[in-house]
Amino acid sequence: MSSIEIDRVSKRFGPVEVISELSLRIESGEFIAFLGASGCGKTTLLRMIAGLETINSGEIRIGGERVDHLPPGARGVAMVFQHYALYPHMTIYDNMAFGLRNIGAARPLIDQRVQQAAKILEIEPLLARKPGQLSGGQRQRVAIGRALVKDPKAFLFDEPLSNLDAALRVRTRVELARLHQQTRATTIFVTHDQVEAMTLAGRIVVMNNRKIEQIGTPMEIYGRPASEFVARFVGSPAMNFLPVSVAGQGGRALLALASGAQLQTNIALEDLPSGEPMRLGIRAEAIRLDSEGSLPGKVEVVERLGDRTHLHVRLADDSTLIAEDVGHSRAAPGDSVNLRIDPDQAHLFDAQGRGYRAAAEARS
Ligand SMILES: Nc1ncnc2c1ncn2[C@@H]1O[C@H](COP(=O)(O)OP(=O)(O)O)[C@@H](O)[C@H]1O
Ligand SMILES: [Mg+2]
Repeated sequence: MSSIEIDRVSKRFGPVEVISELSLRIESGEFIAFLGASGCGKTTLLRMIAGLETINSGEIRIGGERVDHLPPGARGVAMVFQHYALYPHMTIYDNMAFGLRNIGAARPLIDQRVQQAAKILEIEPLLARKPGQLSGGQRQRVAIGRALVKDPKAFLFDEPLSNLDAALRVRTRVELARLHQQTRATTIFVTHDQVEAMTLAGRIVVMNNRKIEQIGTPMEIYGRPASEFVARFVGSPAMNFLPVSVAGQGGRALLALASGAQLQTNIALEDLPSGEPMRLGIRAEAIRLDSEGSLPGKVEVVERLGDRTHLHVRLADDSTLIAEDVGHSRAAPGDSVNLRIDPDQAHLFDAQGRGYRAAAEARS
């Protein structure tokens, strides 16, 4: 398995730049997710690594070797697409063997690789069937198997689960996690689904507006979003945002909410830009019902999820936020409640959307 280096790579389609001076190093054996909204350039980046798309400037190296001038077949990577196409008239075995036969691999080697991949993916009983006799999930596993038999330097997955129904998507996700634990293959997984990125990846690359917004482990991305974009994109329900004015208190930011409530945070004042409008970012799980809480509001909608309940609460200044309560919440629409915000889970975002958090994360 090989590392992949993307070095100041740019890509234009005509006059439109879709990737701008992007640099990234993916370690050998790593499972990395490219996460971003539709149209942000994820597929383009993946296709440039695979060699299916040219680059306008920069370098791409796989296993230390420069590959950006090499044709796809010479790069040694295998790509699995969202719209995978199996050959309908061929058996599953022949579908999986096709790529190796094409490059003239010896029959025993082909057989060994196909059997091994079929075993890992648990599709051995299906090898004699045709694609039409398989379920969607089984066909997707065959598509992954076709990549697996090539014994590639890296796997490139482009939204491979998007076409599966919800239950199957979750099952296949677990299979992919297991597959990576077994093979330790360098894997790039492109998705617009933050849950897929969070659950599968060792590191997530959040992409936005032609460039990388943040790189980090799932918990870094979730717990320390570098920007408002990342904070909005990751986590469900989306983070709450409230305008605040910032005052000082012992070097730490004291926030005044529009409703009049105050929140003493641990965020260092010296890190913050002065005189700019700031926004408090706070996740639902950091806002609880508390009769002593300083933030009064009225419950408008109660969403029961079984293990927890989301309360949509309107505040005195007419803004709304989502708070979390226990599964058996007693809250009902119309209730007047008091909320308590956990200041240790507060984020601040400046006018440019840059994120700030208290440095001391150790208390967890
Ligand atoms: N062959 C192409 N010609 C022109 N524009 C393209 C081409 N392929 C992609 N684009 C544009 O590049 C941008 C990024 O596309 P894409 O990489 O497919 O995004 P994603 O996979 O993140 O949804 C989009 O605005 C898309 O319309
Ligand atoms: Mg795409």
